[in-house]
Amino acid sequence: MLAAMTEFDPRVLAADTTDDAEVTLERSLRPRTLDEYVGQRDVKANLSVLLEAARRREEAADHILLHGPPGLGKTTLATIVARELDVNIRYASGPAIERPGDLAAILTSLEPRDVLFIDEVHRLGRAVEEILYPAMEEFALDVMIGKGPSARSLRLTLKPFTIVGATTRAGRISSPLRDRFGATYRLDFYEPDDLAAIARRTARILGIQLTPEAARMLAARGRATPRVVNRLVKRARDYAEVHRDGRVDEAAVAEAMAALDIDSAGLDATDRRLLDTIFRKFGGGPVGVAALSAVLAEEVETVEDVYEPYLLRAGFLERTPQGRIATEAAYAHLVSLRIDVPAPRRGVPTAPLPWDGQEAAQEASAERDDAIEDMQEGLLGLDP
Ligand SMILES: Nc1ncnc2c1ncn2[C@@H]1O[C@H](COP(=O)(O)OP(=O)(O)O)[C@@H](O)[C@H]1O
Ligand SMILES: [Mg+2]
Repeated sequence: MLAAMTEFDPRVLAADTTDDAEVTLERSLRPRTLDEYVGQRDVKANLSVLLEAARRREEAADHILLHGPPGLGKTTLATIVARELDVNIRYASGPAIERPGDLAAILTSLEPRDVLFIDEVHRLGRAVEEILYPAMEEFALDVMIGKGPSARSLRLTLKPFTIVGATTRAGRISSPLRDRFGATYRLDFYEPDDLAAIARRTARILGIQLTPEAARMLAARGRATPRVVNRLVKRARDYAEVHRDGRVDEAAVAEAMAALDIDSAGLDATDRRLLDTIFRKFGGGPVGVAALSAVLAEEVETVEDVYEPYLLRAGFLERTPQGRIATEAAYAHLVSLRIDVPAPRRGVPTAPLPWDGQEAAQEASAERDDAIEDMQEGLLGLDP
């Protein structure tokens, strides 16, 4: 059976930010220069050429699109871009820029070569997006003067600037907007050595005694995601201070992770519930994400953006045009944790469920789009 969820904070492994205290702490942990930014070597190499070229020409850098799962360092990288260019940065987010006028106000307030960071850039409204096109392309702002038949459009010239856009999935951005970014970088999940380096760096900044072995253990459980690793470092420290002598060594990490119900693969109760549900209720899959999310009582977007990316990367989940499949590795992992799940019955159609009715066809086509989008993102990869 699944472990009881007492004491367990389900958000520990969620790669998005949770509260203000955490946001403040994150800021203090953020690397300030490209050199300090651990990992992502290809992105750093390409980006440093782009930034150096802009510096030499004394021009605004090309617009940059960063995409990748939450917590991998998109906001951090945007901040570094501005710092490396020695310009100011303004932070905005797609849903927060409600009207074209909001965007116009921001754009006209920028100093030459400033960076405007737009988080969740795929959630910009259509009218706002449309003002952004000429702004990005020609640093021009088309404003409407007056109303009705006497209305006319006036073109204002803006000072050159750089947009750094961030999104969890490049495929969600409209293609006209995507085309206006001169450089697109995909952030990948981090390698264990890089995560261990991030854990050690965080410990140093926060004055935590962390042994190298303990750093590696935390790295292995941090979902290949810096934000999660940083959170685990703090949780292990809390645990070590309350239950032990404050030093974070292997034993402290093992106990802290057990208390948090995080297993050796870095999965938490929600991840295991997701996999368990696919085996128990859907014969191992394929199952559409809408049906899966409904059973888990989670938003589809949360399942897609927060839970799935790491399960896919870890090889526990597969996305196919027919839906999600929990893999043999997932089955073996759950069995090794003594969770008794029914073996997957591949190829045998699962019994129709209430929500499989008329929505099924629609969902199947959405699944197909997702799988295609994943493929395209893979191909999109790194722009030179
Ligand atoms: N390459 C990195 N090296 C060191 N720390 C990092 C790196 N990338 C991210 N972090 C840490 O992870 C946290 C989350 O990064 P953030 O840029 O907010 O992610 P995103 O915007 O992609 O969700 C930051 O506070 C930062 O401390
Ligand atoms: Mg961010």
